[in-house]
Amino acid sequence: MAKIIGFSGSTVKSGVLEKAMEQVLKSTGHEWELVRLNDINMKYCTGCVGCGTTNRCVLKDDINEILDKILEADAILLGGVARFGKLNALTKVFIERLFPFVHRYMLTKGKIAATVAGGFFHQEVVKDELSSILQTLGMEDVGSITIDGNASCFKCGYGETCNYSAFRAKYGQDAKITDDVFYVFDKDEKAVEKATLLGKKIAEAINQKAKNLK
Ligand SMILES: Cc1cc2nc3c(=O)[nH]c(=O)nc-3n(C[C@H](O)[C@H](O)[C@H](O)COP(=O)(O)O)c2cc1C
Repeated sequence: MAKIIGFSGSTVKSGVLEKAMEQVLKSTGHEWELVRLNDINMKYCTGCVGCGTTNRCVLKDDINEILDKILEADAILLGGVARFGKLNALTKVFIERLFPFVHRYMLTKGKIAATVAGGFFHQEVVKDELSSILQTLGMEDVGSITIDGNASCFKCGYGETCNYSAFRAKYGQDAKITDDVFYVFDKDEKAVEKATLLGKKIAEAINQKAKNLK
């Protein structure tokens, strides 16, 4: 059985991104694991280039273990969310820590990968950023999906009245925050279907690669 590792860059535990990623991973029919980047010990890349000759990071945290996991995995799934109109910081910190792969060998070259982009407004921006990262790492990008999300203004208490409310910006100045405006991934049949299809695409790519190697 193949193994697929997902990396969730959302800081929200069991949030929309995680639910969508779990659906993708489950749908592959293979063994899978979802790593919450917020739960690992991960420092910022210091730019020391200590990884230049060894393709390993010199910082003392969890990242070398993660690099091994990526190398061993048959495919990876990368998920990020929008914050301030761009890919969020935690996901970006993780990407920078993949620098050891790049030197001389591009160890991620040909690795099967797919992405899940979440957000309230800027899912497409996130999707493009994630795809471009896979390209930079020479990965085989088998697909990406965008997923809706909930703005923080839904629950701050002032979403219906605040002049800077993302909720009002999207749904109109007089809109009311009712239960049905909260986005719940499992209730969005189309999104569940998209995620399921992406999982199947990953599995197909793994099968195809195995056939090509025979
Ligand atoms: C500080 C902060 C800033 C955000 N900025 C944006 C943004 O600029 N554009 C956007 O589309 N969503 C923005 N969001 C909404 C998140 O992207 C959304 O909640 C997320 O996609 C939902 O997935 P999650 O439940 O896994 O966090 C922001 C959320 C937070 C907490």
